[in-house]
Amino acid sequence: MTDRLPPDESGLDRAAALLRSGALVAFPTETVYGLGGDARNSEAVAAIYAAKGRPSFNPLIVHVADLDAARRLALVGPEAERLAQAFWPGPLTLVLPLRPDAGLSPLVTAGLPAVAIRLPAHPLARQLIAAFGGPLAAPSANLSGKVSPTRADHVLAGLSGRIAAVLDGGPCPVGVESTILALSPRPSLLRAGGLTVEDIEAVLGTALALPDSDPDRPTAPGQLASHYAPAARLRLNAVSPEPGEVFLGFGPGSGDLSLSPSGDLAEAAAALFHLLREADRIAGPTGAIAVAPIPDRGLGRAINDRLARAAAPRV
Ligand code: TXA
Ligand code: MG
Repeated sequence: MTDRLPPDESGLDRAAALLRSGALVAFPTETVYGLGGDARNSEAVAAIYAAKGRPSFNPLIVHVADLDAARRLALVGPEAERLAQAFWPGPLTLVLPLRPDAGLSPLVTAGLPAVAIRLPAHPLARQLIAAFGGPLAAPSANLSGKVSPTRADHVLAGLSGRIAAVLDGGPCPVGVESTILALSPRPSLLRAGGLTVEDIEAVLGTALALPDSDPDRPTAPGQLASHYAPAARLRLNAVSPEPGEVFLGFGPGSGDLSLSPSGDLAEAAAALFHLLREADRIAGPTGAIAVAPIPDRGLGRAINDRLARAAAPRV
């Protein structure tokens, strides 16, 4: 039985107590719901992998309450410091050299010498980390390979009975996962996400190495081609639906469901995972979904990345 906890002091107290006991609690962040566990406790971290059915070679992001907490876990160099000052709290994850004395379970980083750290902006996430009083390992709170959750109902649809509780904070405002950057040997995009490449480049003053432009770019171990997969087949860049397809539109005149009638990328990102689930439900497991073209700039880059993975051949 998985408890649904209210977004108030009683819910936060209960969630923090569960986390301290080594149990797993899903909680809202501004991007998607995370499946939280004590990042210092190997039993809790192993339980995260088990609950998600996630391969243990795919490391987890550590969520912290402030920049000082990040400095206790990782070496925060000048470039990372600049990005943290500009964008934390917010939808940016930095992959940084792990400090030997960080005290994290080695399962969190899957044995890598680097750790992915994020300081979320959602008030409930921040209050929960503070009440818990330590670093929280938290992947997206979905079964591995499935669509990420942006509502407590999505979490329960996949993980009910597998985790202790979900803190229900309503829909996540950003709607796509954090942008992940590696800084060494040079600033590289590991995953497009809720913070745009344009905004990052403006602060860095240099271009980021992008996935398709640099074969030597480091990669995030978990970036499997098929991911975020609904049950229905997905056809991208569809100008109009074929007979029988559920049409997910964008912009004026759009379809059965619309990511954003006004063509707003932030609105589309916030709606993406919920509408993919809705379209999947309407289409049924043998059905098909067609998605309108989304401009590949700003948040559109993250939206197109998730759609491409959702449409990829299943592994
Ligand atoms: O917005 C988000 O980032 C959400 C919320 C809950 O914070 N979390 C999230 O976690 O999306 P997850 O586990 O679904 O995706 C984490 C990604 C994976 O692709 C993983 O391979 C990569 O981060 N990653 C984690 N640690 C890493 C490391 N040390 N080096 C490189 N990539 C890493
Ligand atoms: Mg995920």
